[in-house]
Amino acid sequence: MKHLAILTGGGDAPGLNAVIRAVVKTAIQEYGCEILGVRNGFDGFLDPGGIFQLDLEAVRGILPRGGTILGTANRGNPFARKVIRNGQVVIEDYSQQIIDNIKSLELDALIVVGGDGTLRIARDLWHLGVPVVGVPKTIDNDINGTDYTFGYDTALNAAMDAIDRLHTTAEAHHRVMILELMGRDAGFIALNAGLAGGADVILIPEIPFRFEAIVRKIRRRVARGTYFSILSVAEGARPQGQEQVYAIEGDAVYTPRLGGIGNEVARYLTEQGGFETRVTVLGHLQRGGSPTAFDRALATRFGAAAVRLAKQGGFGRMVALHGTRVEDISLEEALATPRRVDVNGDAVLTARALGISFGDD
Ligand code: F6P
Repeated sequence: MKHLAILTGGGDAPGLNAVIRAVVKTAIQEYGCEILGVRNGFDGFLDPGGIFQLDLEAVRGILPRGGTILGTANRGNPFARKVIRNGQVVIEDYSQQIIDNIKSLELDALIVVGGDGTLRIARDLWHLGVPVVGVPKTIDNDINGTDYTFGYDTALNAAMDAIDRLHTTAEAHHRVMILELMGRDAGFIALNAGLAGGADVILIPEIPFRFEAIVRKIRRRVARGTYFSILSVAEGARPQGQEQVYAIEGDAVYTPRLGGIGNEVARYLTEQGGFETRVTVLGHLQRGGSPTAFDRALATRFGAAAVRLAKQGGFGRMVALHGTRVEDISLEEALATPRRVDVNGDAVLTARALGISFGDD
């Protein structure tokens, strides 16, 4: 193994720089390899100046930094790239061009750090002969092949901190505070931030809710003399029999962007429940900033393990946390089904036992 390359794709997550640093250090110090950085996801293979040499100097001091020194693109699918031809927007397949560029660089392995979308592209390139090794990242924690993705713990802590802050002002003003949280179709952030922050209601995509049940829960609190309530609401949560709420509709290339359910719940609680309600959308504050110790350590272990996996020729696979061990799993298997909150699992049962409502009672 002589030549490696690394790219980061999809939405950023705290810990990407820790992976890059671990990959570069392990590749150079442990295996004496050359390592190239690819800018802005797979787009770097198409752009002039998109590939550059990474050395130890390039990764000095980046461990605690959020973002990614490589840049990322969450719309950079080489199999369906949006381009303008004669003033018209068209979708084109650039995968062959990328495969040719990878061949001409004589790469022994391409380390792809990404969420499910980016790892699916990696899997498809692997089927076309590209020697890829995957590293799972996402704040959503929705990749089934690994117990945890890095980035999730940092996002969760940001969400918990927001709930703590909302608590004091909610109590002072006797208000209902709704915190809308990221996670796409998975409710891990809202569920565990709700547990860790002591929310009164948790709404997640896996458990469709009824507005009336939330009103009943808040009224029960008022009847007990508690005049404030905190709702931890996943952006993908939806009322029973209704669709999720989107801020932006998608198309052939762009995935739709969830957002707005917090306001819908607030409208109902204000109009039908008579509660003074405020909404906070935590948004990209969950993705920015310095990674937690857990995410830094996990990302570092994933980075070093990815280089070892490449050395063993473990292509078409990704590194994964299973229990306390970093192991690996085929991309095919890891991506076969998405990871979702187990509605009968102990976290949900615990929340219910503590009196937290999921809006389904
Ligand atoms: O997948 C990570 C994530 O932050 C989701 O939780 C969220 O729905 C989405 O990305 C937001 O995407 P964008 O950065 O394009 O707004």
